[in-house]
Amino acid sequence: MGYKTREWRKSMRVVLDYNNMTEKFLGKEGFSETDLRGLAPKAKAAFEYVNANRGKDELYMGWTELPYNQAEIVEDILATAKSVRKKFQYFVVLGIGGSALGPIMAFNALCHLHYNDLPKYKRKGPKFYVEDNVDPVRMRDLLDVIEPEKTCFNVISKSGATSETMTQYLILLDLLTKAGVSVKDNVIFTTDEKRGNLKKISDECGGIKSYVLPDGVGGRFSQLCPVGLLPAAVLGIDIKGLLAGAAYMDSLCNKPSIYKNPALACAALQVAAMEQGKNVGVMMPYSDNLKYLADWYCQLWAESLGKNITLDGKPCNVGQTPVKSLGVTDQHSQVQLYTEGPYDKVITFLSLRKYGCEMPIPHGCENIPDVSFLGGHTMEELIQAENAATAYALTKAGRMNYTLWLPELNAFTLGQLLFLFELQTAYAGAMLNIDTFNQPGVEEGKKATFALLGKRGYEAKKEELDSLPEKEDKYIV
Ligand code: PA5
Repeated sequence: MGYKTREWRKSMRVVLDYNNMTEKFLGKEGFSETDLRGLAPKAKAAFEYVNANRGKDELYMGWTELPYNQAEIVEDILATAKSVRKKFQYFVVLGIGGSALGPIMAFNALCHLHYNDLPKYKRKGPKFYVEDNVDPVRMRDLLDVIEPEKTCFNVISKSGATSETMTQYLILLDLLTKAGVSVKDNVIFTTDEKRGNLKKISDECGGIKSYVLPDGVGGRFSQLCPVGLLPAAVLGIDIKGLLAGAAYMDSLCNKPSIYKNPALACAALQVAAMEQGKNVGVMMPYSDNLKYLADWYCQLWAESLGKNITLDGKPCNVGQTPVKSLGVTDQHSQVQLYTEGPYDKVITFLSLRKYGCEMPIPHGCENIPDVSFLGGHTMEELIQAENAATAYALTKAGRMNYTLWLPELNAFTLGQLLFLFELQTAYAGAMLNIDTFNQPGVEEGKKATFALLGKRGYEAKKEELDSLPEKEDKYIV
């Protein structure tokens, strides 16, 4: 691995501490050493399953190779990003789900938290927006703040058939046409290489600049391919660092033991906790920059594990409901429930050893001891103390929690986290014996939408919707 020095990479290692899942710290609510040793066979089998299927496109496991097989694409992306940064004032991602949450997460994690409000000379790149909804108000408001002719639109859709994204595409097409701008000049597609409507549109227009969303990579596992890499590069994020971080985490997860492989440990602990009825997984970063990583993780965990059939065709209803929570903000809203409510949660803390700055707290209010004790400390000390105090309070109350420690937040450590969560999800899916990479449960709603909007071929579904029983007035209050 040629990224920085070996010592630097080691100093940036993301570390898992799961002491607060054990009997020693939680009492009877925790796992004993015997329990943990008992997880070994399942963990080993999951590790072997994932390893044996690495890179297999037909199983949607192509994502495992993304840290290694994109050298050429990365150079192309960097060149495109350079020209986008020079030419455009705005960069708008149109996409949804796996085609949007990654770009949002990386933007939030590695850019200034008020990036779009910075003056241009400080921003260096275009203003950045990710439109992942079809709320008309949001679209109207976006159009109030961008100038279409000065905007690069990155339309991201593997299928090119997602109603939300294609609706947005139709709106931008109309806008650009009215402004007399060629789609080819202001649009970049990220889509399937051979199939799908964006491919057709590109062919019809004589070739729109397009990046490939590889065959074996599903939406929620796509942050480390052009889906996430192009927007990140446009923002000036070190995309080689992201990929190097992912490769580094991959190398840390090369053993079939929960004492050595952090992703395998997280998966085994979560699955064992789920078997005890811990059906809620709280993702709680103590960092505003990681707020949307929790969103990205929630999709990964929920859509991958929420399944009703095993790989051998047996009915099951598995999965753990992911909840996003932000430290310290949610200490003042959700932590009461986590500490005293049902014993149905595992809390994952994402904690930073070092923040991007310390922010000293000045002395003042010396006659008010309740306030003056804060003076002389730093905000970094305060947030770290609150993180430690919350972990302590939860542990004291017998609530399972563990911490992923980041030495600091940068592209390399973020890449590690992403790959850890992807591996964790794949291992957990293997332990649950389900198809981690499909999402049949979202299909019914999509079909009903098509029927309601009169899409050809969905007439029977429309009849089914029309034949629903009449609603009863007494239940409408
Ligand atoms: O994770 C997934 O597979 C989904 O969230 C998809 O990314 C989402 O539905 C968008 O699909 P597409 O990229 O085909 O527009």
